[in-house]
Amino acid sequence: MSLYAIGDLHLHFTSPLKARAQMKERVWKNHEEIFRRNCETMIGADDTLLLLGDHSWGRSLAESEEDLRYIAALPGRKILLRGNHDMFWDANRTAQLNERFAGQLCFLQNNYYPYGDYALVGTKGFTFEGPFYLDRRGRIIDWDEDAAAHAEKLVEREVQRLRCSFEAARSDGFGKFLMLLHYPPTNILQRDSAFTALAEEYGAEQVIYAHSHGESRFHDSIEGEKNGVVYHLASGDYLRWMPLKLMD
Ligand SMILES: [Fe+2]
Ligand SMILES: [Fe+2]
Repeated sequence: MSLYAIGDLHLHFTSPLKARAQMKERVWKNHEEIFRRNCETMIGADDTLLLLGDHSWGRSLAESEEDLRYIAALPGRKILLRGNHDMFWDANRTAQLNERFAGQLCFLQNNYYPYGDYALVGTKGFTFEGPFYLDRRGRIIDWDEDAAAHAEKLVEREVQRLRCSFEAARSDGFGKFLMLLHYPPTNILQRDSAFTALAEEYGAEQVIYAHSHGESRFHDSIEGEKNGVVYHLASGDYLRWMPLKLMD
């Protein structure tokens, strides 16, 4: 039994492709087929695969249906987290998705899933991404205050959702946690955030996140150990479509 993670598949079997990088960069060429082959080689029926959001470019469930079918056909148990592009998934209607895809896909939002004696908890998260203002040398000297204030509100809402997920697990007796986010836990100016504080408060052993794709963004946030928590970036192009093994 092993646990794997990856994010940002950005599938588009029946929806228009929206990202320029996905059309141009070599790493995205035929990535659906490469990823499926990697999963079939690495992942067995007893294993669990965490998919960290931005599953589909579809603008509705109908447009994302085939993308979700592709994920459902991958080996192992599949647990999905919401990404910022997952328009098919209304956070308040997660129960309906879980009913509709029962036995095929698990949708993680305001709930948790067990893995051995660990609880897998998570939410989309949020990270302030600018606008930032640079000096002539490209150093950040300021940022848009209104956008930053708005970002703080979104962070607060996501922190509440994440706490709800932790508490659901804790009230069922879980004391060991792996914490999943779609967005990086910190923005490019931070070393700490409400998300790192929550990971430390509950004693999460690992935080796994995605969203940062394209080489220039791979090192936007924390990687490795910090204050007893190990952070991993698991966006698909960063991993070259090889699921990241988190534990046996
Ligand atoms: Fe993405
Ligand atoms: Fe994203």
